[in-house]
This record gives sequence, structure tokens and C-alpha cells, in this order.
Amino acid sequence: MATLFCAAAATSCRLAFPLAVPAPAPGLGRGRARRGTVAVRAEAGTGINPAIRKEEAKVVDTVLAGELSKPLTPYCRCWRSGTFPLCDGSHVKHNKATGDNVGPLLVKK
Ligand code: FES
Repeated sequence: MATLFCAAAATSCRLAFPLAVPAPAPGLGRGRARRGTVAVRAEAGTGINPAIRKEEAKVVDTVLAGELSKPLTPYCRCWRSGTFPLCDGSHVKHNKATGDNVGPLLVKK
């Protein structure tokens, strides 16, 4: 099962990718379990989500990798996609406009 989660506060968001990082063996330290975690930070008061599902207190999506219809599915990490949580290529325009380097998370079936 693939699980993407965001524990977003106004200034911090973490995305974890357990598909790429296996769970640590019992008894291993917490530091090892955190490998593969990416932290995204926005300026205080601005947030990173400009418009997606702003009526929700927290935008959370769950994906079951075994139920994906395609062998490779891109998920948006730039918060600009018109098909969020799926990537629609809007990150290209965002990157050109801002000099950023964001791209999708590719989930393999
Ligand atoms: Fe957001 Fe592609 S549209 S990562």
C-alpha cells in the first residue's frame, strides 16, 4: 500500500514515500526510519498551496498502489495541478516562472 501524507501546518509540510523506503527492522533507530522523507517549507503566512481544496482544513489523499490503472502514475508535489493530486504538467510553467525545480512523485504499480 502506498501512503502519501501531509501533516501541513501553515509553515511546514512533510511528504513520506514508504514505497521507496522500506520500514526499518524492529529495534532500529528512528533516524533510519526517516530516510527518504522530504521536508517542504514555505514562508510564514504564505503556505505552499495557492488554491487546491482550500475549503478543507487539511488536504489528505490516500492511494492504494495495487489499484492504480497505469504502471506509472505521476502525483503532483508543486500544488499547481488542475488535476490534483495527479500531476498535469503545471510544474513546468511554475518552474519557468519561479526558477524552482519541483516535479511529480512517480508511483509504480
Ligand atoms: Fe505539480 Fe506536476 S503539476 S508536480
